[in-house]
Amino acid sequence: MVEFNITMRSLTSDDQRALTEFNKLLSAQNTVERQELSAKEIEMFLKADEDAGLTGMAFEDEDRNLVGIALVVSDPARLKEWFEDTFNADDTLYLYAIVVSEGAQRKGVGKEIMKKVYSTARMLGKTQILLDVNNRNERAYKWYKREGFEELASQVYMVRRL
Ligand SMILES: CC(C)(COP(=O)(O)OP(=O)(O)OC[C@H]1O[C@@H](n2cnc3c(N)ncnc32)[C@H](O)[C@@H]1OP(=O)(O)O)[C@@H](O)C(=O)NCCC(=O)NCCS
Repeated sequence: MVEFNITMRSLTSDDQRALTEFNKLLSAQNTVERQELSAKEIEMFLKADEDAGLTGMAFEDEDRNLVGIALVVSDPARLKEWFEDTFNADDTLYLYAIVVSEGAQRKGVGKEIMKKVYSTARMLGKTQILLDVNNRNERAYKWYKREGFEELASQVYMVRRL
């Protein structure tokens, strides 16, 4: 087992290029629906401050290479707007995206990032993490399951093509 020592810092506008690269990895797994972030979403997290309830977390290895990111949303008002009353927004941290760089995958970095997401959530007084995952992204789906996530029975996206 490789021990991975990662440090966390805020995502900044200097990370724009790296974020675009991470974004490609996000879409690579998904063959049908788009899952990558739009330029507007990327900008939203790069500009985010704590007041906006959006947090861009960046993770570096010992050589200060960026090895992963996690984008989280903690503002209950925003979550209510997005998800209505599906769950208690006050208690929830929404994991908008998590991506580990290709070369750093399968070394425990994702797991370490998750630990930081959990501790951030606890610090904010949250009691649960919510995320959504494209069902074509089998690897991420299984990974989340092993991480202890369970499917919400209450919500399935449906679409009618016109
Ligand atoms: C999903 C994702 C975030 C997981 O990150 P990761 O860093 O590869 O995850 P981990 O290393 O913690 O665990 C993955 C695997 O490595 C293994 N592993 C964990 N720690 C390890 C270690 N120290 N040494 C060797 N292997 C290890 C795990 O058992 C696991 O194996 P498995 O996938 O065969 O079950 C990453 O694959 C990713 O970025 N995917 C593309 C983007 C994406 O789909 N994001 C999620 C949708 S929002």
